[in-house]
Amino acid sequence: MTSTNKHILLGVAGGIAAYKSAVLVRLLRKRGAEVKVVMTSSALQFICPLTFQALSGHAVHTELLDAETENAMGHISLARWADVLLIAPATANFIAKCSHGLADDLLSTLYLAASCPVYIAPAMNQAMWGKPATQENITKLKAHGVYMIGPEAGDQACGETGLGRMAEPEAICGHLDSYFYDAGELVATFGQCLQGRKVLISAGPTREPLDPVRYLTNRSSGKMGYALVRAALDAGAEVTLISGPVSLTAPDQAEVVHVETAAQMYAAVMSMAPRHDIYIGAAAVADYSPVVAETRKIKKHDAQTTLILQKTQDILADVAALAARPFTVGFAAETHDLDAYAQTKLKQKNLDMIAANWVGGEQGGFDSGQNALQVFWCSDGGVGQKTLPMTDKSYLAKQLIQLISERYPKQS
Ligand code: PMT
Repeated sequence: MTSTNKHILLGVAGGIAAYKSAVLVRLLRKRGAEVKVVMTSSALQFICPLTFQALSGHAVHTELLDAETENAMGHISLARWADVLLIAPATANFIAKCSHGLADDLLSTLYLAASCPVYIAPAMNQAMWGKPATQENITKLKAHGVYMIGPEAGDQACGETGLGRMAEPEAICGHLDSYFYDAGELVATFGQCLQGRKVLISAGPTREPLDPVRYLTNRSSGKMGYALVRAALDAGAEVTLISGPVSLTAPDQAEVVHVETAAQMYAAVMSMAPRHDIYIGAAAVADYSPVVAETRKIKKHDAQTTLILQKTQDILADVAALAARPFTVGFAAETHDLDAYAQTKLKQKNLDMIAANWVGGEQGGFDSGQNALQVFWCSDGGVGQKTLPMTDKSYLAKQLIQLISERYPKQS
């Protein structure tokens, strides 16, 4: 029951799934959490505030400008009260408002004012969920560090079937439990653990052109690297991101250099590395690139053809070989013998730390929102290690940043 004594601000937007939020309040209260409820005006059409008041033990908030609230800044004090803002259900319209920064009612204003983690449990018709506009909004919110819970697939209130049902209250509680459990392991000083440090992070895939229309690449989405950028910023660092081609939005506070090929990433990282305290190589850099990139589209002739590839320069190894080297953290992406390959890379590339992850399976690694890491570092002639279990990449990134901050001063 890791949600015990936690302050959960539950935002209820106007969807039929609002009735499930009443069960959610009961379950959260049973876990010992304190729950305050905010409803949008459309939510009031679906469920009566008295239900939430009775279940939560607190008056329900519905108005942005509430004359009865002390000093009329109720949204700020509510936002500061919350350990977590949970919006369940979140409708397509409400998600769009958050994604665009609109603040025309209490709940959307609270979203903007919140400095705590935000969890959103979307609920809507399956076609609305599938619309590019909704998906773009979801992608944007995830890039801003919002955690999504669901939606789930199944029968919908409208009679259709598909993805869009709000996650079940038990599942939502499980997400919060694991967040609070994990957060208990982060040091209270996380917000300053890299204060004043300059951190360089590479993220995403590279593209190695074969001709003007084709390239070799890999499945990296950039999520792990971008999560590290956010975590390093949260830890007080100045962050430079060298990003391969991805569809994510980098946080405004980071300096970003966009590159496409391994050679471009090499040049960008090598020129910046000496000015940074820490380098984290989370990018999935091509190990090989075509010897020749044809200037005209390769035509289809023979039944088989051969590509001649040459090794790319190893960015990580060359950063670690710099005279004024930053604390150098590599990643290892493996389909087998994870620990052995990671430790070999740690030593052969002369790294300070390596974070190893499984790839090619169903969970974690490439493109997933979650991941797990096995982290190794050199310690007193031996190798230290820590397991960071499967969790959201954003929280995983914070754990890795904390580990780096604990090791970093020992090396400097
Ligand atoms: O982007 P996501 O979809 O979120 O997926 C995350 C991830 C799986 C890509 C990430 O967690 C990860 O594992 N990144 C490293 C992928 C990789 O290239 O691993 P590797 O074992 O092939 O390379 C080892 C290290 O050498 C990596 O730090 C890599 O950045 C670096 N390298 C590799 C080749 C090269 N020419 N230069 C390098 O610096």
